[in-house]
Amino acid sequence: MRGSAPSGSASALILGAWVLLTGAACAAASELGGGSSKLLSNTDRIFTRESWCCGHEKDETETAMIDVIKRRRSVRKYTAEPVSEAEVRELLEAAMAAPSASNLQPWHFVVVRDSERKGLLARTHRWSGMIADAAVAIAVCGEQTRSRHWVQDTSAATENLLLAATALGLGAVWIGIHPDRDREAKVREVLDIPEQIGVLCLIALGRPGEHKPPQHNYTEARIHHDRW
Ligand SMILES: Cc1cc2nc3c(=O)[nH]c(=O)nc-3n(C[C@H](O)[C@H](O)[C@H](O)COP(=O)(O)O)c2cc1C
Repeated sequence: MRGSAPSGSASALILGAWVLLTGAACAAASELGGGSSKLLSNTDRIFTRESWCCGHEKDETETAMIDVIKRRRSVRKYTAEPVSEAEVRELLEAAMAAPSASNLQPWHFVVVRDSERKGLLARTHRWSGMIADAAVAIAVCGEQTRSRHWVQDTSAATENLLLAATALGLGAVWIGIHPDRDREAKVREVLDIPEQIGVLCLIALGRPGEHKPPQHNYTEARIHHDRW
C-alpha cells in the first residue's frame, strides 16, 4: 500500500494500531476495524479476510495496520521529490491522535522546510546529518509545565507520525534529542524554541531513497508469562 493510502486514513490507521498493539480486547479491535475500513477503502488490498482471535474475522484493514507497523523502518536517504502540505497535515493529525496522560496533549511540532535551518539542524550531532537532504524536518516538542509525562506523550506522538509516514509511502527517522541537554540547546537555538519547552526529537522526512525489508524482532526470551 506504499504511497497509496488516501487522505484522511492515517490518523485512524495509527490510532487503531495503538489499540491493537496494547492488547486491547478483540471487541474493541473489531469496532475499530469496521470504522477505519471505510477510510481505507481505496488502499491496495494485499491481504484477504481470515479468522482471528475471539472468533472475530480479521479484515483487510486490521491486517494492513499491523503490516504498516511491521514494515516501518528508519529511512535515512531521500529523493529530491517534495512532500506536500497535505501529507504533512496528515502526519500531524496522526501524531496528535496519540494517547497522552490525562489527555493533556502537551505536544508542539515545529515543521521545518527552510534549507538553511535544516542545514543547521543536520549539524546537531553526528547522527543527524540526513536532515540536510530531507524535504521536511519536524521538531517534536512538549510543554514541560503542562505535563510531567511530556516525554511519554510526545514519544507516542512520534511513533504515530512514523507509522503514518510508512502508511503514506514516505521515509522518516527518529533523531534523538532529549535527554541530551547539549542537543536540546542546539535545536532550541536554531528554531527559537522557548526555554520551558522540551525537545524530544527531530524527525527527518522525505520520499524514500532507500528501501529496507521489515525487521523480525520478535523474541520469545523477552516474554514472561504470569511472572518474570
Ligand atoms: C530514542 C531514539 C533515538 C534515535 N536517534 C537516532 C538518531 O539520532 N539518528 C538516527 O539515524 N537514528 C536514530 N534512531 C533510530 C534507531 O537507530 C532505529 O530505530 C533502530 O536502529 C532500529 O531500526 P529501525 O527503526 O529501522 O527498525 C533513534 C531511535 C529512537 C527510538
